[in-house]
Parts: sequence; C-alpha cells; structure tokens
Amino acid sequence: MGNKKSDVTLGEILRIYRMPMSLRLLFLMTAISLTIGYVFNLAQIMVHHHDNNGGGFLGVSPESIRAAYYGKRDASTLELKLDGAMGRYVTPEEKSAIIFWIRNGSNEELYHTQVRDMFERNCVLCHSAHSFRSLASFEDVKKVTQINRGMGLETLVRVSHIHFNGMTALFFMSGLITCFASIRVGGWRWVKWVVIVLPMAAMIADILS
Ligand code: HEC
Repeated sequence: MGNKKSDVTLGEILRIYRMPMSLRLLFLMTAISLTIGYVFNLAQIMVHHHDNNGGGFLGVSPESIRAAYYGKRDASTLELKLDGAMGRYVTPEEKSAIIFWIRNGSNEELYHTQVRDMFERNCVLCHSAHSFRSLASFEDVKKVTQINRGMGLETLVRVSHIHFNGMTALFFMSGLITCFASIRVGGWRWVKWVVIVLPMAAMIADILS
C-alpha cells in the first residue's frame, strides 16, 4: 500500500458521519456557539464603529473605522462626540457655539463667558466631576478639546495580542470541524482548504495592516 492510498483512507475515516455521537454533539454545539458569537461580533462592530452620518454598509463605513483607529485629526474628541452620540443633548445653536469656541483655541475666558452654562445645563448631569469623563470644570473640558488621535499604538498592541490568540483558537476550532466535513462532489476538496486557511490569513493581513 503506497503512502497516498493510506492518506486517502485516513481522510475517509475522519468523517463526521463516522464519529461517535459524543464527538458529533461536541462539534455541533461548538459550531452553534461560534455562529451565535459571530453574530454578536458583527453587532459589536456595528454598534462600536457606527457612522454617525449614517453612511456605509449597515452603518459602518471606512470613515467610521478610520475615525476609531486613526482618529479624526481635524477635530477634537468633543467635536466628534457633538457631531455624533452627544449631539442630541444640545441645540444646533449651542453646538455651533461650542465648536466655534473649540476651534478658536478653547480659552478659559471665553469658556466662562460663552459656553460654561451650556455644559452645566446639558452635560454635567451625566458628566459630573465624579463620572468617567468629567465636563464639570474648564480643565476637564479642555482635555476633550485636544485633537482625536484614535486608539494609538498602545491600544492597538493590546487589542491585537488578544485578537491574535483568541481568534486563532476560534479559527482552529472551526477549521478542525471543517476537516471532518465531507464534500461529495469530486474535485471540490479545495473548498475545505480555503475555509481552513482564509480566516487566519485574513486576520493576519488585517492586524499587520
Ligand atoms: C444622558 C447622559 C449623558 C449626557 C446628558 C451627555 N453624555 Fe456624553 N457620554 C455619555 C455616555 C454614556 C458616554 C460614553 C459612551 C459614548 O462614548 O458614547 C459619553 C461620552 C462622551 C464623550 C466621550 C468621552 C470619552 O472619554 O471618550 C464626550 C466628549 C461627551 N460624552 C460629551 C458630552 C457633552 C458635551 C454633553 C452635553 C452636550 C454630553 N456628553 C451629555 C452620557 C451622556
């Protein structure tokens, strides 16, 4: 018996329909959990990288991803938020006044005479001095008028190392299950190889880029 022949035989033995019920159940439940997890991954991307201008595919656009990672360097965090989720707490006039103040150097004197009331009236309810992001004093507000530089290298390194290890484990599981699937149409075995290789290749390309 040649090497080739015994490979084929082994390949044919490792099939889902030949497995004991316990292994089949394990594979089934893993596949179901991974699928549900995947739906949540997509939801997380859509919620987190939502394009405030409503553009893009399902609310996510290259610009919104870019704003999250690279930052929006022509605008501060405060301006970005006022254009987005926090915009509902100000009137259009108040918003223009605050943006005008930011773009003109956000100085302390004008803060007290022109915009402080707006922050106190609209924002401090949630952004009190003890909150996760205080907007209760000039110094605090000043911090969010700096240019938004996105996530920065430190965050990217942290997120990437978690993603690399976590996703490799997930793709190993889904790839392993795929190994046991049988494709009965002749000449289509390469589909399995693509399904096994592509997720990891895409992840590596994504993170390295
Ligand atoms: C009802 C509560 C609430 C009000 C009112 C509110 N915010 Fe927020 N704000 C939040 C929450 C929750 C977050 C965190 C989630 C997010 O970033 O969207 C946040 C985030 C922010 C951030 C980003 C903070 C950071 O460190 O990333 C800024 C800037 C901001 N708000 C500004 C404002 C301004 C300016 C106002 C008033 C015009 C305002 N917010 C009113 C609840 C509120």
